[in-house]
Amino acid sequence: NTPDIDYVVEIKRLKKEKNAVILAHYYQIDEIQAIADFVGDSLYLAQKAAETDADMIVFAGVHFMAETAKILNPTKKVVLPDLKAGCSLADSCPPKEFAAFKKEHPNHVVVTYINCSAEIKALSDIVCTSSNAKKIIDSIPMDQPIIFAPDRNLGAYLNKETGREMLLWDGACMVHEAFSVEKLITLYQKHPTAEIIAHPESQAHILKAASYIGSTSGLLNHVKNSDKETFIVATEAGILYQMMLDNPDKEIIPAPAKEDNTCACSECMYMKMNNMKKLYLCMQYELPAIEVDKDLSKKAIVSINRMLELSK
Ligand code: 13P
Ligand code: SF4
Repeated sequence: NTPDIDYVVEIKRLKKEKNAVILAHYYQIDEIQAIADFVGDSLYLAQKAAETDADMIVFAGVHFMAETAKILNPTKKVVLPDLKAGCSLADSCPPKEFAAFKKEHPNHVVVTYINCSAEIKALSDIVCTSSNAKKIIDSIPMDQPIIFAPDRNLGAYLNKETGREMLLWDGACMVHEAFSVEKLITLYQKHPTAEIIAHPESQAHILKAASYIGSTSGLLNHVKNSDKETFIVATEAGILYQMMLDNPDKEIIPAPAKEDNTCACSECMYMKMNNMKKLYLCMQYELPAIEVDKDLSKKAIVSINRMLELSK
């Protein structure tokens, strides 16, 4: 048992002492979002990681995010509060199988969602996030065949948005696949003036019910700029913290999950592995630190940098 430690005070002290920057995703617990230097979506956090002059990057998010930060900063220390904080979507794309799939489809440009491992990024031509995916795909000539991985839901949505027929890898995020359309309809009937908004990792039947689809930052901006008073939000529940801070007078309702899903609600068990104690400990001991093989890193950075270049 740790004796009485004021984590807020200690984390702030370590931040100064070690010239550390804390980057937190919108799906992190409230206390972590409150103490972070930068809170944002996957693109914003990758951009902040690329431009930081801190000596240590503390990534309050999941493994692929910290790994991307390390690839962008090979000489800096990058720590993640819990090394087990993975991602079901990244796990749904094993490198060996993906390399074989790529081989079966030569002449395709490979666009991958940032939610994947360094090995997959090294097999990719360009990385994207949900906030820049359309722009990145639109930058590729229309007659160029594309493989899109690993998210089949985001891929199908982008096929519609861009008028393409990209070849999709069959992966998914278990949190965004857990929403129940039946329960969503029942909830909407109780709140008929509400606007349904969704993250594009959600399944097609959820996206069909939504009047706005966007990344976490897109969803936040939409609610802030809308005249509506009630919103039903289909994404990970951590976003509610920032959404409620931004919109104290609006009613924000999380979209309901199926009863038999693997997570109890629309919470990402990986994102929720991080807590204040683990954040403090990883800053104090500079562990667990993310390491990426040098050769792998050199290959993976090409597709990440192409994305950053196109996102300026
Ligand atoms: P964005 O914050 O980029 O929309 O990504 C959502 C997500 O699933 C991160 O794991
Ligand atoms: Fe991965 Fe889904 Fe969790 Fe995001 S919400 S980290 S995509 S499992």
